[in-house]
Amino acid sequence: MKVVTVVGARPQFIKASAVSREFPKRNVEEVIVHTGQHYDANMSDIFFKELGIPTPRYNFEIRSSRHGEMTGRMLESIETVLLGEKPDWVLIYGDTNSTLAGALAAAKLHIPIAHVEAGLRSFNRAMPEEVNRIMADHLSSILFSPTELGRKNLISEGIPSTKISVVGDVMYDVSQYYGSLANKNKILLQRLGLEEKKFILLTCHRQENTDNIDRLKAIFLGLNDVAEKMPVVCPIHPRTKKYLLDAEWFKPSKELKLIDPIGYLDMVTLEHTSALIATDSGGVQKEAFFYEVPCVTLRDETEWEELIEGGWNILVPPLSKEVVRDGVLSRLNRMGKKIFPYGDGKASQAIVDAMVRGV
Ligand code: UD1
Ligand code: UDP
Repeated sequence: MKVVTVVGARPQFIKASAVSREFPKRNVEEVIVHTGQHYDANMSDIFFKELGIPTPRYNFEIRSSRHGEMTGRMLESIETVLLGEKPDWVLIYGDTNSTLAGALAAAKLHIPIAHVEAGLRSFNRAMPEEVNRIMADHLSSILFSPTELGRKNLISEGIPSTKISVVGDVMYDVSQYYGSLANKNKILLQRLGLEEKKFILLTCHRQENTDNIDRLKAIFLGLNDVAEKMPVVCPIHPRTKKYLLDAEWFKPSKELKLIDPIGYLDMVTLEHTSALIATDSGGVQKEAFFYEVPCVTLRDETEWEELIEGGWNILVPPLSKEVVRDGVLSRLNRMGKKIFPYGDGKASQAIVDAMVRGV
């Protein structure tokens, strides 16, 4: 059996690391296609090296451009690869433009598609990710949902239940594999001048926050205020860096430490050791929960509702710096309930088994 896996963005490399490890165990040939949507060494190469992901056979080096232009260029290149490789499956992850291009290319060639992280919804179609995942789900032959809520969302859109498999979350698998290793790497904290459980970790890259000056100001000025009480460290996504670089309104305090994007193991170390995580990332919300750290999501909605219900996460829409500051400070030391929504750490095995069975 041959599988073509399409990836392109940071969280997809991390998810693929767990699933790719399972293919050789079942004699499946995996051909990795990297669209090149993310291309800086610290947004791409570092994950392949650190997580032992096989080198992509193809890298289109598409890089950054407008949504339509980027997706169109990927579509053309992926189609060419699929015509040559003739795989039994195309495997896609999540909700990026690379996911949509992979799904469209495969669907037009009648190649079965397996979608990992199917069924997530924000119900906000202004998000590019919502459009991408709806399209990808409706084109897929087998939909691997991380949660029961995902299954419910898919059923309500008319997708037959026979196509849906709730397998758990592959990011949980990855955290189980690497979590304890990262926990040992405390030198990073010393280098950053941080003490365990006495700092806040911030990440921000969502288009709705970076491309809206009021929301961007609310987040960074709010966290600047928080830093007066507790240090804040922010590995800054290149999208966000672009907007902050020359912003005359932004004078970061010494205790708001902006650093370049970091590798997964360093990131997990910061997550483990932080007192609280403020984020608009999908993956980081879940990792906060995996490591039992309270989380504030700087958005109007989340796809990971079970974390809100479990008391691990709250939504703080970035409406003003005061809302953000008070929202973040109010959640320090607030733990949630014991819940187990993301499976048993064996989602990747279940995914590959199902693909081999052909159902
Ligand atoms: C993309 C995904 C988003 C995901 C995120 C993970 C889409 C529509 N969005 O958003 O769902 O949460 O990846 O991080 O696919 N840039 C660089 N170097 C890089 C990569 C990006 O400088 O290696 C800069 C460019 O200025 C680019 C901007 O970041 O224009 C945005 O990159 P892009 O891939 O378009 O979207 P992300 O915001 O990264
Ligand atoms: N991450 C990382 N280094 C960083 C920031 C994030 O390794 O500097 C990891 C993080 O631990 C998580 C994933 O990247 O596993 C989340 O990716 P991102 O926030 O870019 O995208 P999203 O999950 O929102 O799609």
